[in-house]
Amino acid sequence: MTLRAVLAGTGSALPRTRVSNAELAERVDTSDEWIVERTGIRFRHVAEPDETTATLGAAAAREALAAAGLEPSDIGLIILATATPDNTFPASATKVQALLGAPDCIAFDVAAVCSGFLYALSVADSMLRTGAAKHALVIGSETFSRILDWEDRATCVLFGDGAGAVVLSAEDVADDRGILATRLHAEGQYCDMLYVDGGPSTTGTVGHVRMQGREVFRHAVTNLAAVLGEVLADVGLSASDVDWVVPHQANKRIIDATAKKLGLPAERVVLTVDQHANTSAASVPLALDLAVRDGRIRRGDLVVLEAMGGGFTWGAAILRI
Ligand SMILES: CC(C)(COP(=O)(O)OP(=O)(O)OC[C@H]1O[C@@H](n2cnc3c(N)ncnc32)[C@H](O)[C@@H]1OP(=O)(O)O)[C@@H](O)C(=O)NCCC(=O)NCCS
Repeated sequence: MTLRAVLAGTGSALPRTRVSNAELAERVDTSDEWIVERTGIRFRHVAEPDETTATLGAAAAREALAAAGLEPSDIGLIILATATPDNTFPASATKVQALLGAPDCIAFDVAAVCSGFLYALSVADSMLRTGAAKHALVIGSETFSRILDWEDRATCVLFGDGAGAVVLSAEDVADDRGILATRLHAEGQYCDMLYVDGGPSTTGTVGHVRMQGREVFRHAVTNLAAVLGEVLADVGLSASDVDWVVPHQANKRIIDATAKKLGLPAERVVLTVDQHANTSAASVPLALDLAVRDGRIRRGDLVVLEAMGGGFTWGAAILRI
């Protein structure tokens, strides 16, 4: 028997308001055609003032708990990945804990931007396997619309708001269920290529997203293909063994190019970027929840998750459902 972090449930939440490319083009100098051709994005959800990273995260967490058949009081660890916390402090994870009515447990945020969910998942996996908790909530939740410069058409069309969550349970398994391997990377010398031009310790403001799109694109394809290769090698499997890839949903062209590099057929890639745009740390758990709920991802499937974001940071995980 091996102690592993096993996926027990998934959930997601999207803001009420959905904005199409055509609606966006009414206030930004862009077009549906340009956005679809360059990114594959058609819609994004945008949070209203009463919808925050913590409220969306809590809504996704409630769904994941229900899917796992657990109560908030069963949770010993909450890790929330975000680049758009409700407040500079406390951690939004503690706000989610309060909204869920969960009693004393471990709760903290992870900041790795679009790779945040992979970082949070990897930390939760380690903590569950060393006995820190029996059940963990791992959440990716973002309100990126709050840090977009709506005058900068090169960035504001790309992002959306939302949340995704998973419950992981520490289980003694006799087979290969659970998280089998994770890999994380960061190369801080590229921190100026995708960043927010504000913060508590520098400008004292929240700031706006700034990006060198072409450079990000180039690094993303190379890094994501490499890290997927690493997790597959870690478990001695190849791309043909993979049932589903759940990639970070930044850009359809990045997703297609990465899958092609690894020889993964498009039919095995979960795609939500058209509906949600780039929801940063929320994108992977949102897409995972969708594919679990519509019956594509089933018990016994081999699934790989991957993401890359500002820093640069990137990572991947491989798990048997
Ligand atoms: C952002 C991205 C779609 C831009 O595509 P691109 O082909 O590199 O386009 P460029 O930035 O070179 O711009 C090409 C032209 O389109 C224009 N343009 C930029 N944004 C536009 C928009 N929303 N609508 C219409 N035109 C736009 C530019 O001004 C430029 O015009 P010019 O040639 O007259 O100067 C692409 O670089 C990309 O997807 N990068 C990765 C971004 C990403 O995924 N980031 C998150 C990672 S976590």
